[in-house]
Amino acid sequence: MLNFLRQVFRDYHHVGAIAPSSRALARALAKPLQSRPHGTQMNILEVGPGTGALTRGIFENMKPGDRLTLCEINEDFVRILQNRFETDPEFAVWKNHSRIVCAPIEDLPAEERYHHIVSGLPFNNFPAATVCSILDKYRQILVEGGTVNFFEYVAIRHMKRPICSKAEKQRIDEVEKVLSEYIGRYQVSVQLVLLNIPPAWARTLIFR
Ligand SMILES: C[S@@+](CC[C@H](N)C(=O)[O-])C[C@H]1O[C@@H](n2cnc3c(N)ncnc32)[C@H](O)[C@@H]1O
Repeated sequence: MLNFLRQVFRDYHHVGAIAPSSRALARALAKPLQSRPHGTQMNILEVGPGTGALTRGIFENMKPGDRLTLCEINEDFVRILQNRFETDPEFAVWKNHSRIVCAPIEDLPAEERYHHIVSGLPFNNFPAATVCSILDKYRQILVEGGTVNFFEYVAIRHMKRPICSKAEKQRIDEVEKVLSEYIGRYQVSVQLVLLNIPPAWARTLIFR
């Protein structure tokens, strides 16, 4: 928690949260891993794992033969994750089936293919064009029928609007437009997770 808060103060733009996600949210975002429509072995990508709060939900649902890529932009978080693979039994079990890529998602090779993406990115902090290009990247690297799973804090944009500048309001409205379009077209399930600070919507999208 302390490590997480340190990064919140250093780089709020990229971290965009006040606390690591709960186990309940981690489980909600990993749910599609239980149905396994693609057979037994899954290639999984987590974007923005931070200290690994959502990673625990993935590990609970990983099966032998699955592979996990953790794509994290922040070098300090990467060091924390590396340490967890050495010291935390929940992580150590999957060490040989996981890799950490220290880079922005934008730089992940476009040829790689994944069955399940968990995105922990704070879309509401980014310009709408960045949100759009990241969602397009997800679409590009997912196998047909693969799922992208992400969360949004409940009413976060409504809470931000009254306290921000005109330019910031415009950016938030543009982000909302992009997300609403994707959600309207591709969302296949949504779950309200109250046991999280703050409560969040866990969304699953399939690009068809
Ligand atoms: C809201 S935090 C989520 C952390 C963790 N997944 C959780 O739910 O507690 C966002 C994370 O995304 C990372 N991040 C932000 N922009 C990124 C990018 N373009 N590529 C990869 N990671 C990014 C941040 O460094 C941070 O770890």
